[in-house]
Amino acid sequence: MQADITELKRKAAAHAVGLVASGMVVGLGHGSTAIHAVRFLAARLKAGEIKNVLGIPCSLQVEEEALQCGMPLTNLEKHPFMDMAIDGADEVDIELNLIKGGGGALLREKIVAQASRRVVIVLDESKCSPFLGKQRQVPVEIVPFGWNVHVLFLESLGAKVRVRRNADKSLFHTDQGNLLADCNFNEILNPRELAAKIRTHAGVVEHGLFLDLATDVVIAGAGGVRHLKRDRPISKDKGKVE
Ligand code: A5P
Repeated sequence: MQADITELKRKAAAHAVGLVASGMVVGLGHGSTAIHAVRFLAARLKAGEIKNVLGIPCSLQVEEEALQCGMPLTNLEKHPFMDMAIDGADEVDIELNLIKGGGGALLREKIVAQASRRVVIVLDESKCSPFLGKQRQVPVEIVPFGWNVHVLFLESLGAKVRVRRNADKSLFHTDQGNLLADCNFNEILNPRELAAKIRTHAGVVEHGLFLDLATDVVIAGAGGVRHLKRDRPISKDKGKVE
């Protein structure tokens, strides 16, 4: 079963990397599926199929992986707008909204997605749900100061909350040194309303609801690879999604 899922993740990642053209700046997402994409992208560059592609990693782990496979990197200071981001997700609904952050990198992932003209999400079909929250908890990045207060706030919104911990039971810290509160809301019928409420609290840095951000979702399943597309409003200086 695990081998099957890994193969599906590879297929979705390979399809997304086929969309990358020479000269692009590409956001490199976090998680096992996105790491397959980094490896495929580095391989296409090495084979000379495409040239002058630069990556912007969403986490220190992905940066390390990219450097190991010879992927040229840049950063947001030099390239504030990207042509494309390729990233995984934990759950996707029928409107192509997402839950992300299972791997702990949601803040950088959202910054990169918002700076990308095209956001290509790669996943296997087990992550598709009619409503977000059916399968996965919503990770919320919170500052360590007063973390128990932030947890109480999230509970007041109806969530069962667990602060994420490492295997040795110590608190998990994000690349920014913050904590993650994994919030079980069950099925989320109105994700926009919930996202707006979560953002009202000082101490919340960002949440893992990625709404209206994905332009493309590539889903690999037993029947093959499906590529779903959606337009999203793009600011003028980022250009138009083709
Ligand atoms: C990382 O923070 C997440 O948003 C990942 O994109 C997500 O957890 C997907 O992970 P896998 O590709 O490993 O399933």
